[in-house]
Amino acid sequence: MTGVTVIDHPLVARHLSVLRDRATPAGEFRRRMSEAAMLIGFEALRDLRVERIDVETPLETTAGARLADDIVVIAILRAGLGMVDGFLGLMPEARVGHLGMYRDEQELSPVGYYESIPEHGPEAEIVLVDPMLATGGSAASGLRRLKERGAQRLRFVCLVAAPEGVRRLAEKHGDVTVYCAALDRELNEQGYILPGLGDAGDRLFGTR
Ligand code: PRP
Ligand code: URA
Repeated sequence: MTGVTVIDHPLVARHLSVLRDRATPAGEFRRRMSEAAMLIGFEALRDLRVERIDVETPLETTAGARLADDIVVIAILRAGLGMVDGFLGLMPEARVGHLGMYRDEQELSPVGYYESIPEHGPEAEIVLVDPMLATGGSAASGLRRLKERGAQRLRFVCLVAAPEGVRRLAEKHGDVTVYCAALDRELNEQGYILPGLGDAGDRLFGTR
């Protein structure tokens, strides 16, 4: 399917299988999600721009590199929180923002309730994270809001994507690269991804 890059890696596949398993308890689910996010992030950020710098080793000066752009990771609450530590493990210098939204259970459309986005310039690399891309309503709404706030270099990183969500992002935000660990089959009538991993927020926080 065009419009999405599936990170095909044995270690990611192993984490994802544990995340899918209904018997995995919340603590293990959180740990696995964080590790999977780090591995997916490693691939999804492969083309970040770097600046050359001089580094003094104990013996001489050599060429080094540092990230050229301001990096801002934006988590869609709640479930995106499960991916933040993984990304900060890769880039401790990244700043973190939050977009609070939940899906209305009947309409399946996102309802926003909170927003905290660090100030950034147009060159900043903005990484929107949420483990689940189902109808795509939440991600599309988050991307729209980030663009309204001046973001120009955006990518969206999730764990599990449904074809419906990928299509929606391609239609509404064709300029945004989408990364996932798996492209699943379809949505059920309640808007859950099949086979999926269930309700990511509830499983992360042990809500139900
Ligand atoms: C989940 C998930 C996404 C959204 C995806 O959040 O974390 O944000 O659903 O569905 P969509 O692609 O159809 O918009 P949920 O609404 O369950 O909120 P929660 O994370 O706070 O539980
Ligand atoms: N949100 C989830 O947490 N899981 C799904 O399968 C769909 C939306």
